[in-house]
Parts: sequence; C-alpha cells; structure tokens
Amino acid sequence: MTTTDESTTHTHPYGTLHGKVALVTGGSRGIGAATARRLAREGADVAVTYVNGKEAAEEVVQAVQALGRRGVALRADSADPDEAAGAARRTAEALGRLDVLVNNAGVGVLGPLEDLSLTDVDQVLAVNVRGVFLTSRAAAAHMGAGGRIITIGSCMAQRVPGPGGTLYATSKSALIGLTKALARELGPRGITANIVHPGPIDTDMNPSNGPFAPAQSAMTALGRFGTAEEVASTVAYLAAAEFITGAEFAVDGGHAA
Ligand SMILES: NC(=O)c1ccc[n+]([C@@H]2O[C@H](COP(=O)([O-])OP(=O)(O)OC[C@H]3O[C@@H](n4cnc5c(N)ncnc54)[C@H](OP(=O)(O)O)[C@@H]3O)[C@@H](O)[C@H]2O)c1
Repeated sequence: MTTTDESTTHTHPYGTLHGKVALVTGGSRGIGAATARRLAREGADVAVTYVNGKEAAEEVVQAVQALGRRGVALRADSADPDEAAGAARRTAEALGRLDVLVNNAGVGVLGPLEDLSLTDVDQVLAVNVRGVFLTSRAAAAHMGAGGRIITIGSCMAQRVPGPGGTLYATSKSALIGLTKALARELGPRGITANIVHPGPIDTDMNPSNGPFAPAQSAMTALGRFGTAEEVASTVAYLAAAEFITGAEFAVDGGHAA
C-alpha cells in the first residue's frame, strides 16, 4: 500500500525523536539552525549554542517552540574549554536529560600554507577539534543507552580538491578518528557516534553566490550547492538510527565521487 499521508509514515505517532533531548552546537545559523528545527519536527526538545548570534539563536528557539517542543539558547563558545563542556551540562539541567549531541559549530579558515598564522591554527583547532572532543566527552557522561553523537565534518576530510585547505582539512579529518574511537568506546553503553561530511552548502560560511561557488558546484556530480535542510535530514536520520555507528556519510552532491 502506498500513501502520501506523512503522519502514517512514522513508526512512532509523535515523531522518531519524541521524548528525546538534543543539543546542537552552533545552532543560531546555517546547518545548525536547520538541524535544530528538523530535530524538533521529529519530536525532540532542543538546545542550541551560539556566540554572536543571540537574536538568531532565539529565533531558532521560537521555531522549536512553535512546533510544540521545548527549546533553549545557550551562549557557549566552543573555543573555550569550560564553555564547550558546560554546554552539555547546561542542556541536561535546562531540559532534564541529553540524548542527541550534534557537533556542528565550526569555523572555516582557508588560505595558502604560508599565510596561516599561529592564531589561525589555534582558533581552528580549538573550535573544530578540541571543542568537539570536550563537548562529546561531557555529553557522553549524561547519555544513557540510545545516546547519539553526530558530528559535522566536511567533504574536505575526504577529498581536497585544490590548494588552501591545509588547516581546515586537518581539523575535519581529526573528527573522523574521534568518531570511530567514540563508537568503539561508547558502543558497549548503547551510544552511537557518526560523522556527516557536507559538500558545498549554501550558508553564511559558504554562500552559493560567492566568488568560489561556480567552481565548487562544478566539483559535485549534481552540479549544485546543497541546502542546510538536506544536511539536517541526514542528521535526523542518524539521530533515530539504531545499528549505525562509527560511520561516515557524505552529503555532498557527489563531491567525493
Ligand atoms: N557550508 C558549507 O559549505 C560547509 C561544508 C562542509 C562543512 N561545513 C561545516 O558545517 C558546520 C556548520 O557550517 P555552516 O556553513 O552552517 O556555518 P555558518 O553559517 O558560518 O554558521 C556557523 C554556526 O556556528 C556557530 N559558531 C561559530 N563559531 C562558534 C564557536 N566558537 N562556538 C560556538 N558556536 C560557534 C555560529 O554561531 P554565531 O553566529 O552565534 O557566532 C553559527 O551558528 C561547520 O562545522 C562547517 O565547518 C559547512
């Protein structure tokens, strides 16, 4: 039997994530904001972190609440060790538990090897790697069986199509090792860890009308940028999936093909 009624396609009447609590780091804009909305649509209560985008984060929380879920915006800089770890604790305090962590906050610093300063190196590794490590560790301490850690990597961890990506690719590649190691370490507790590698996605970080956009589109098999919602749908799938762990998912329009 086929049906077009979306409400009958879920095995759970209230959505695949009903009763779950999710934390999305960097949830004020772009892929993080779309993910927060999508997880709420699937029934989760959602906390988002932000640094500068207080109003944008509050708008995301309002969208979560409009879907009938609880939402909270937390100012937490992933580059700060205490704030990175504290985001997980604050989510559990505010929303009562923590089931799903989406490590989304990230910065992209591209440029010739010789132009990358020590400050660039420290900032990118602090946000993209150390912060992910510390938030994941803190989140795992709050998770029970069924916990999910989903990390946003990059197509640049799978294929670097040109110069300028040394620092960014270093940071995102580290997350593959972290994801596999987390899967091994947390598997016995029934917690999964997976990584999603977006290709070029139309956000403030990488606008589809930017100077490098035509070249990026041409590198994909589908010949276009993706949307934040297209990444969010894979994150939502992994948040509900039960027998997938330690795995990499390219959501890149064929960038790595
Ligand atoms: N767009 C792409 O083409 C693409 C491709 C591959 C991978 N990615 C990855 O996808 C993730 C999201 O990217 P995006 O394109 O959505 O970026 P974006 O539009 O620049 O949004 C970045 C988000 O992260 C937050 N953020 C930045 N630094 C932070 C920090 N130190 N602590 C906490 N939050 C911080 C920002 O919050 P504030 O606004 O409050 O500062 C914002 O909500 C990143 O990990 C990125 O590397 C993106």
